[in-house]
Amino acid sequence: MAEPRVVVYPGSFDPLTLGHEDIARRCLKFADKLIIAVAHTATQHKDRLFSVEDRLAMIEECFSDEPRVEVADFSGLLVDFCKRIGARMVVRGLRAVSDFEYEFQMALMNRNLWPDLEMVFMAPAGRYTFLSASLVREVASLGGDISGFVSAPVLRRMREKTVS
Ligand code: PNS
Repeated sequence: MAEPRVVVYPGSFDPLTLGHEDIARRCLKFADKLIIAVAHTATQHKDRLFSVEDRLAMIEECFSDEPRVEVADFSGLLVDFCKRIGARMVVRGLRAVSDFEYEFQMALMNRNLWPDLEMVFMAPAGRYTFLSASLVREVASLGGDISGFVSAPVLRRMREKTVS
């Protein structure tokens, strides 16, 4: 029997947006198992809103309907994490040309570090192409309505954060 196809979808997910969810659900069309992997170390510096533990809990709740999705965190290099869990495919979402340079650099660096790893880029549904976790954080912190951009488990935690 063929090996199950394990796909890793890595990121900061601070927080998980509907755009991330859309990409993850699209991956299930070709992945036997999808690991949504929350990185302790992100390449681009960002001010953190949620702890990694909170992010894992939110993602788990959002995908509680989907037994093929697992959630994990990782420290160190993405390629080492993939080697450890036996995954040779990584998915990243590409929203616009502006994402391309950063993604392309990371893809080629990862390939240099481990040539057996393939990076696959996926486009989200058109209605999510403007969406980013950093914009969601900013809009929420300034009192804007983010209910159209994140799902209920994330919205609840975002409201707790912005009220406290
Ligand atoms: O959601 P993000 O912040 O754009 O995700 C970037 C992420 C976490 C996928 C990237 O920074 C990463 O892979 N970090 C792990 C450390 C690593 O492997 N760095 C070298 C990347 S070429």
